[in-house]
Amino acid sequence: MEFITGFTPELTVKSPGRINLIGEHTDYNLGYVLPTAIENQITFKLRKNGSVNKCNLYSLTYNTGFTLDLNKISRSEIEWENYILGVLNEISKLTDGVKGFDCTVESNLPTGSGLSSSAALECGLAFGLNELFGLGLSKMDMVKLSQIAEHTYVGTQCGIMDQFASVMSKEGHVILLDCKSLEYDYVPIDIRPYRIILLNTKVSHNLASSEYNTRKQECQEGVDIIKQKHPEISSLRDVTLDMLMPFKAEMSQTVFNRCSFIIEENERVLAMTEALKSDRLKEAGDLLYEAHGGISKLYEVSCPESDFLVDFSKGYDTVLGARQTGGGFGGCTLNLVHEAGIDEFVTAATKAYKNAFAIDLEAFEVRPSGGTSVVV
Ligand code: GLA
Repeated sequence: MEFITGFTPELTVKSPGRINLIGEHTDYNLGYVLPTAIENQITFKLRKNGSVNKCNLYSLTYNTGFTLDLNKISRSEIEWENYILGVLNEISKLTDGVKGFDCTVESNLPTGSGLSSSAALECGLAFGLNELFGLGLSKMDMVKLSQIAEHTYVGTQCGIMDQFASVMSKEGHVILLDCKSLEYDYVPIDIRPYRIILLNTKVSHNLASSEYNTRKQECQEGVDIIKQKHPEISSLRDVTLDMLMPFKAEMSQTVFNRCSFIIEENERVLAMTEALKSDRLKEAGDLLYEAHGGISKLYEVSCPESDFLVDFSKGYDTVLGARQTGGGFGGCTLNLVHEAGIDEFVTAATKAYKNAFAIDLEAFEVRPSGGTSVVV
């Protein structure tokens, strides 16, 4: 099939990936997160094609495309198509305003690297169609429908963080998001002379989706046990460590570990926010290391490659802290590195990582950036 890829677009939209400074796996436990969009993004070029139902989508990055009929949307065997189909399916529940369109997507956001290329794809499409067809959806409509698309069409029972960060981020800030009330605050992040350096492990262990859903169930199991004596709680957000302790004998060690990680991680998000506001960067770094310890030992969503890089960073005075960012089982570690020490640290990490895993590390700096927007 011939795809028209070089058309003159009516609209160009860019939709960013994200990092999460701290607060991992807390979103679906209705806790706090501290993400921001980054400059790496997916670019969408869109035009109406005059047909009622026919849509053509093409990935310039992967040189593959497909055509779909808006009246016959169902899940595909091909993974990336499900992000598109899921979004269209959710939009169709809110409006019948979408008609035939052509769309190309091009990404400089590495997939499977824990930087949420999924949310960038979902939210960018929702945002683009909203603009192109004047659908009147709010930003929160787009965030929520993209999250549901991931549940129903992709099969990951994700929280709201990635979609929220992709759409709502503001340059130079992280977002303190309360995933229970959905209230949020933009927290300025000025960590000079330190920089945020990502080290991409280039592994994405394929356990990620099934283990993700298992973690969610384990947390729910914890909530169900605690609820028997505390009927007022509805999520781990409502539980303190003091409340959890008496239930240690009633839950498996695994469920206890999962619950204690989430409770402590919520506390770390609030502590990190205060540390950033008062320029206590050493403390911010320590919180990252603590968080990684929990990610690895209590929540068990790390992997040897991420653990190796976080441990390696501890040998450098120029690194304040590091941890794996995102859903887990690989992807990127996030490192706060003094600008004078970046080259030395990255060179040494690259060499050590290659020796240990025979993989070429990829390192890049990211800056807190704005959310999904129209390119003018
Ligand atoms: C993935 C999910 C998010 C969040 C993170 C872990 O990125 O999509 O909702 O749960 O993992 O913090």
